[in-house]
Amino acid sequence: MCGIIGFSGYIDAEKVVLEGLKELEYRGYDSAGIALQREDSDIPYIVKKTGPVKELEKAVLENRVESFCGIGHTRWATHGGVTDVNAHPHHIGKVVLIHNGIIENYQELINSYELKDKLISETDSEVACHILNYYYEKTKDPFESIKRTVGVIIGSYSFCIMFSDIKDTIFSIRNVSPLVAASCDKGSFIASDVTALIQYSKKYFVLPEKVIAEIKKTGIELRSPDGKKVEPDYLTVDWDVEAAQKAGYPHFMIKEINEQPDALERTVRPRIVSGMTDFSGDNIPDSLFTDCSRIIIIACGTANYAGTVGKSIFEPLLKIPVNVYIASEYRYEDVITDKNTLCIVISQSGETVDTLEAMKLASQKGAKTLAIVNVKASTIAREADYVLYTHAGPEISVASTKAYTVQLAALYLLAAKMGELRGCLTNDEASEFTKAIENISDTVKKVLEYVPAQCKHVSETMIKSKDAFYIGRGLDYAFSLEGALKLKEISYIHAEACAAGELKHGTIALIEKDTPVVAIATQKKIFAKTLSNVKEVKARGAFVILISRGDEEIAEETCDILIKIPSMDDRFAVFAVAVILQLIAYYTADGKGFNVDKPRNLAKSVTVE
Ligand code: AGP
Repeated sequence: MCGIIGFSGYIDAEKVVLEGLKELEYRGYDSAGIALQREDSDIPYIVKKTGPVKELEKAVLENRVESFCGIGHTRWATHGGVTDVNAHPHHIGKVVLIHNGIIENYQELINSYELKDKLISETDSEVACHILNYYYEKTKDPFESIKRTVGVIIGSYSFCIMFSDIKDTIFSIRNVSPLVAASCDKGSFIASDVTALIQYSKKYFVLPEKVIAEIKKTGIELRSPDGKKVEPDYLTVDWDVEAAQKAGYPHFMIKEINEQPDALERTVRPRIVSGMTDFSGDNIPDSLFTDCSRIIIIACGTANYAGTVGKSIFEPLLKIPVNVYIASEYRYEDVITDKNTLCIVISQSGETVDTLEAMKLASQKGAKTLAIVNVKASTIAREADYVLYTHAGPEISVASTKAYTVQLAALYLLAAKMGELRGCLTNDEASEFTKAIENISDTVKKVLEYVPAQCKHVSETMIKSKDAFYIGRGLDYAFSLEGALKLKEISYIHAEACAAGELKHGTIALIEKDTPVVAIATQKKIFAKTLSNVKEVKARGAFVILISRGDEEIAEETCDILIKIPSMDDRFAVFAVAVILQLIAYYTADGKGFNVDKPRNLAKSVTVE
């Protein structure tokens, strides 16, 4: 959500900024803009355009300028519509500014700084630009003016700022919204995430909150608001540039689906020592797992659905209450949370603001927090008491695939460890459970070999439909939630998950001739019950795609398409089913000709509430 790139250095700034914006496109945006300092004038070259970065690039290249310092932005509209004027950068007086985040008190600021008649756009960001220019005119001091500006702002922000009378320098500051920075022999860079920097440097740092960065071609200096020098904590990216490229695949999504066996290996292997689950490499003490009497899982979207599967695994095993909360709901509900609560938050990006704030709230209420996160050193990873990194590598497609299955794997590892430590599993049972986790990667590999053709076949029916339903019971219901989300977010088909037993209480009214129903029936103990529900929808004309176990006898007339998963412990079926549901969604969206990796209105990292 909103991408920021800034560069000051020795090479063509226009190229660096435009390339950076292309790398950040996956975050989701609806307009883009660039500001370049000119070598021969104090007036910055600013171009802003709605639509894709390539439209912006076309416009920028119509009028080349020589520049070695510039900033760029992809905007995901919050305040004000998708227009060229509302796109960033904003330029007021000597200040050029881009912003990611939300200024909550912008209306009050408009009143107190008498900006009503001065505003050109409808954005909260322009308000910050006016205030900064006001203080800069007053103080002539970039640090002082930035300090005073953020001092009156309530909300989240990452700012990249250029002053037209300060050459070759970008100033940045952030609160909540992410920014990372790096330097190399080509110059200095600042960006919303490392994908925009990795081609220049694998060494980077996260800009500490409320610290002002002065980004010059010679390097980056950090100062706290009281003027003290701050030393950055350097990190190293543990994946290569190629990992964030398509590598011959038509889309990132299908590449990432196929990367799942390796991602699962990377997440699971290091945590198995002598056949048992072991988190000592993650510095997670056993007491975290033994000292709690309740678990709450907090996350959004796909990560939340991973949590729903987690609940169905944890609760019968650990015999303690486990509840899953949508982060934005947890924040405003008075959920029982105390010092006996283990709060597990799940986030691929580690920047989802609702998840972050919900985690902070749980922590304030006394809970211990454990974050399952994919992006190293992200805000959630840094703020949690403990972190369990998944090692999916960069996930570029907005639709989460490999990040989901590794989140599940992390939850299964936790279940094994907690089961063992709390005496819910004998040593032999814990070792057997761990062995099954070790085998997940092979299962996914096997499924990826034989299901694509069947999923493509399913997509031919999906493409023709306006609605689709996903049904299942128990764990299968948890899987179906993710299946429906996957389909709707990239194919724009209305897709709904329904607990199979609930159909008769309303949803079945929507089933008519040829309505696609994806029925998931992998759980032995409720197989017959789910099958009765399949018969009910079939009797009303539904086109049934049944996903079931290889060892289950299923009469031909039960469904229209049958996809079988390998026979395995029911609890692990999700990994096979996930791949099938991902592929159905992928082929449907691709078959409809949609931009699979960048669905409309969505952002990869949701950094606003
Ligand atoms: C899933 O395909 C979506 N892109 C979305 O639901 C996502 O899982 C959600 O926004 C949570 O993101 P996070 O894992 O980065 O916190």
